[in-house]
Parts: sequence; C-alpha cells; structure tokens
Amino acid sequence: MNEAKQNKTPLIDALRQFAAGNPAYFRIPAHRFGKGVDETLAALLGKQVFTADLTEAEGLDDLHAATGVIAEAEALAADLWGSDSCHFLVNGSTGGNEAMLLSVLRPQDKILTARNVHKSVLMGLILTGAVPVWMYPDEVPGWQLDGPVSVDTVERSLDEHPDCKAVMLVSPTYFGICSPVREIAALCHERNIPLLVDEAHGPHLHFMKNAPEDAVSAGADLVVQSLHKTGGSMTQSSLLHVQGPLADRDRIRESLALTMSTSPSYVLMASLDGARHQLAMHGRGLTEQAEKLALYARTALASVPGIEVLDLPCSDPLRLVFSAGKLGISGEELSRRLYETDFVSLELADACQAAAVITWGNTREDVERLVNSVRTAVQELRQKAEPFPKVSAKTTGAALFRETAEAAVSPRTAWYAAAESVPLEKTGGRIAAESVIPYPPGIPVLYPGEKITPEMTEYLMAVRMEKTALHGPSDRSLTCLRVLK
Ligand SMILES: Cc1ncc(COP(=O)(O)O)c(C=O)c1O
Repeated sequence: MNEAKQNKTPLIDALRQFAAGNPAYFRIPAHRFGKGVDETLAALLGKQVFTADLTEAEGLDDLHAATGVIAEAEALAADLWGSDSCHFLVNGSTGGNEAMLLSVLRPQDKILTARNVHKSVLMGLILTGAVPVWMYPDEVPGWQLDGPVSVDTVERSLDEHPDCKAVMLVSPTYFGICSPVREIAALCHERNIPLLVDEAHGPHLHFMKNAPEDAVSAGADLVVQSLHKTGGSMTQSSLLHVQGPLADRDRIRESLALTMSTSPSYVLMASLDGARHQLAMHGRGLTEQAEKLALYARTALASVPGIEVLDLPCSDPLRLVFSAGKLGISGEELSRRLYETDFVSLELADACQAAAVITWGNTREDVERLVNSVRTAVQELRQKAEPFPKVSAKTTGAALFRETAEAAVSPRTAWYAAAESVPLEKTGGRIAAESVIPYPPGIPVLYPGEKITPEMTEYLMAVRMEKTALHGPSDRSLTCLRVLK
C-alpha cells in the first residue's frame, strides 16, 4: 500500500470542487444541489448530501468507462486491499456476484459452488444459464450452522467434476465463518480455474491481525466485498476486486454493465472513496478498537447463565454469534424481545442463534445494553420456554438439506419453463419452478429446477407453519408453489 497516495480522496475532492464552482446546472438529477428538494426529505437528510448527488458532469468521470477521478479512486481501493484492480459497485454485492458469474460462465457451463451461497448467486446462475455442482460446508458441532467448506470437499468435488469452469465460495458467511481460501485458491489454480469469493461480510478482515486471512490476500481471483456492511460506506455500495491471470478484465467490465445502473449514485461512490480513505488511514486502529469491544461483549455474554457464544478459529472476531438454545429460547424470540423491551436491534436471528455485528462505531454502552438486555430476557423467557426444536424452518438451508438437493434442470431452464401453481402438499416429486429463500439470511433452500423431495415438502410445510419471512415464491403464504408443467 502506498501511504502518501492513500491519504487522497479523488472523487470526494472532485465533487466538492464541482459544487464549489456554483455551476448553472441543466443536467440530471432534478433537485439542483438540494434547492428543489422536498422539505420533509431535507429535514431528514439535510441539503448537503444533495450537493454530491450529481451525474457524469465535467470532471466527474463515468463509472462505466472510468479514466478520471473514479478510476483513481478505484485504483486506490485496489492498492489498499492488494488486488490488481477494483471496481466500484452501486448495486451492492448482489450486482457484483452476478457480474463475477457472468464474467466466467456461459450457458451449460458447470460451476462448483458452496450450497450456502447468497441468493444473488442463484440470480447469477439464472442470468448465465450455468449449472451448479453443489458442495456442502462442514457442520459446526453443537450449532445449527454452516461451517467452512473444507479443502478436502473442494478437492474431491473437483476430481469428480473436472469440467467445472470455476469455484464459488461465501467467506465469511453471514454468521462470520471463513473457509480456507488460500488452500482452495491453490487447488483451483493447479487446475487453471478461477476462485470467486463472495466476501460481502468481510471487507474489514484485511485490517485485522487476529482474524482469518481475507480473500484477496489469500489469492482468490475475483472477490466481492460489501464495503457498506462492515467497512463504513453507505448501503448498496460495494467493491469487486480482480487479480491474477485467470480473470478476463474486459469481460468483467462488460458484465458489470449488465448488472449496474447507467446512472450510478455519486453519493454511494463518494462513500466508497471515503470509507477506503478511513480504512487506509485508520483501519488497523479502528478494527483493533472494535475487536476489543467484541471480546468484551463475548466474555460478558458467555457469563450469562445458559448463553453460548460461538468461538471458532475460523470466525470473524467482530461477528458475535450467540444462542440461548439450551434454555429452549430461539434466536428469533430472543432478538424480538431485545428490541421490544430495550431497543437493542440485532443483525440476524434464526431458530437457534442470533448475531450482532460489532464495528468501531459501537460503544461500550451499546454492548452493555446488549448484555444487560440478554440477561433479563433470558431470565424471563426461560420460564415459558418450549423444548428447543431440533429442526426448524428458520435454520439455514444447507445444514438441513445436506447432500439431498437434486437438480433436474438448470435454474435458467426452470426460470423460462412453462409452470403451474399446485398446493404445497402435492409438490412431492415435481420440479420447482421458483426458489424458496428464508430471509434473512437469504440462502435459498430450494432452487428452481430442483426435484422436490418428500423431506423438502415437509420442510416447506414447517416454513409455512412458522410464518418464516420468505423471498422467492410468488405465493409467500406457501399455500401453493409453482412447479414445472
Ligand atoms: C453472503 C452475502 N452475499 C451477498 C449479499 C448481497 O450483498 P448486498 O446487500 O451488498 O447486495 C449478502 C446480503 O446480505 C450476503 O449476506
């Protein structure tokens, strides 16, 4: 990393300079530096933010053909994380994952992919017409969680399917669990195929001493990071890193044009420039501060009788995963309770565990509120707790359907096929035309094109009973499901 260069903020500077020139502005957007904006919106956001909400005006470059300040800001991000090049994304890691897949796959190509990937990978498979070959993460003993994908699993799968064109992993997972990316990248490179890593939850890892290695450092070819999730930029802003000889740069640019707006938000891009600058200047100190806070939270939560805290060497230290399952209290119930009684808002909860994201923006007071709230909630909820459900609709999918998914046709074929809606009870043996995705975490349990097994029908009936929040099916009540005719 070049420290002197990293202290620059080319895009932010250009935006400030443009607004400071007080131009008579006849371009899009209409609000004219906030002068024409609705007052109630201005009362929420202030007018300042609108001075940066511009378009490809003079000196402001063009994301889709960057040669000026955006290219400079992207180059600084590449320099910081150590990749060859980096693309700013304004459609989140969702657009980044889709573009990664579009850049390496063609219709009918096979890709070896972990089953616990985010729904954006399913969207990428529909767009490309590629066929997934599933590999399953290890289980985490004592937890209903997907663990890492092991090197053995990848090696065995690649031996069985030597025609796979790429390998795709999510690392860290939503629950903060990382896979051995360095070893997996080496396996891929021996076979001359690229490793794609969805590191949506891990842009901060690069700055931490006591954390699993980040995917760019570990040698993955394409890496997507939601800088907005854990790196301080604004929601929907992400990064796509590119490195090594296997990545086709032109194809990546063309693929990004398919998945991103032609009117990218300069506010989001400026936030990427700013977050990169903050991490370059203070990333080590800030993550250290967050790590101390997370350790304090971890220790305090573990001292609450009945609470277990996940502690694995492959875990992100800033992702606090805990469970009151031994007391018969689900993660969801606990999470709901924390918010309703103490306004403590957690990132994620399922039938078993709950997860808090700790950042340098959190305070010791936040953590004390969390711990005190958990302590009280546990005392009160345990009185009326039901026995803990062994398998529930709200656990993540891969752990439940280990090795049982059977694709009859590709997701894209199913997406375009003639379909009909049938009562859920009658779906056994049919081929799904749509996905079922408990949300969060957004991991599909059923892919379009998969044969619906009796276990899947039973599981979906449990989902229906528990009124799990879903993405995917057109009938969200799951009375009916669309299947191929
Ligand atoms: C593992 C994973 N990958 C990708 C995404 C999509 O990221 P974004 O929200 O930046 O589009 C998410 C979103 O939660 C995610 O959890």
